[in-house]
Amino acid sequence: MAGLLERFGCYTHAVVRGAPASLATEALRSVQAEVDIAKAQGEHQAYVEVLRNRLGLEVVELPADETMPDCVFVEDAAVVCGDTALITRPGAESRRKETETMRGALKDLGLNIVDMTDENATLDGGDVLFTGREFFVGLSKRTNQRGAEILADAFKDYAVSTVPVMEGLHLKSFCSMGGPGLIIIGSSDPAQKALKIMQQMSDHRYDKLTVPDDIAANCIYMNLPSKGHVLLHCTAEEFPESAKMFEKLKDYMLIPVSNAEKVKVDGALTCCSVLINKRANV
Ligand code: GLY
Repeated sequence: MAGLLERFGCYTHAVVRGAPASLATEALRSVQAEVDIAKAQGEHQAYVEVLRNRLGLEVVELPADETMPDCVFVEDAAVVCGDTALITRPGAESRRKETETMRGALKDLGLNIVDMTDENATLDGGDVLFTGREFFVGLSKRTNQRGAEILADAFKDYAVSTVPVMEGLHLKSFCSMGGPGLIIIGSSDPAQKALKIMQQMSDHRYDKLTVPDDIAANCIYMNLPSKGHVLLHCTAEEFPESAKMFEKLKDYMLIPVSNAEKVKVDGALTCCSVLINKRANV
């Protein structure tokens, strides 16, 4: 476990996918909102450039597919931990086909593929919080108990606990990891209740960083050679109060990333990449 924890947040590769024009009108969303597709695509391009140019990850860019309006949100199609990739069965039927291209990309990267074939199971990667020690799986509109059981079976080295998602789309719509042992959490009642459940379920005492806006709690943490702790987080333009909170993370490379358009279709920062550490497999 010690070695695995040291590697928490270490990544070499990212899989991303283009945002199709159909995202603007057809992507699923909890609140009706108009999306400016050019802005959404620009935002996504900037996100990919951060991963590739600023952070030096090897980025596999899958093509957008107009018949899959939500396909930019690749996180929901797979859960990768170590050298295993669980190909999910997304909760929304309209998103099931997204897994095919993801499966091919992860197989090409040499990962061991586990398919979720049980027709009673559903799981979106957005409901999966991996802390480096254990998994928390949100039971939501998209993810059910059977999906969590299959995840537990795929990653037998880790404990898996389920957490009810009482509001929002996914578990990670209001939380994420901010470093080894640090959970970033939103301040709404449902977010705080979910945190309490995670704390009760775990043998470990996690530190927490509470931010005023739930969606701003969705950040991407990495630990990269020659960069150290890195956090991609919301911009001050979008969430001024929450953005300020990240300044508490001394010695971090803090990178604000715009997400104003994709958030209109419930897309958070973690949704747009699947991160992989190929060095973990050697
Ligand atoms: N628009 C992202 C989702 O609903 O899955």
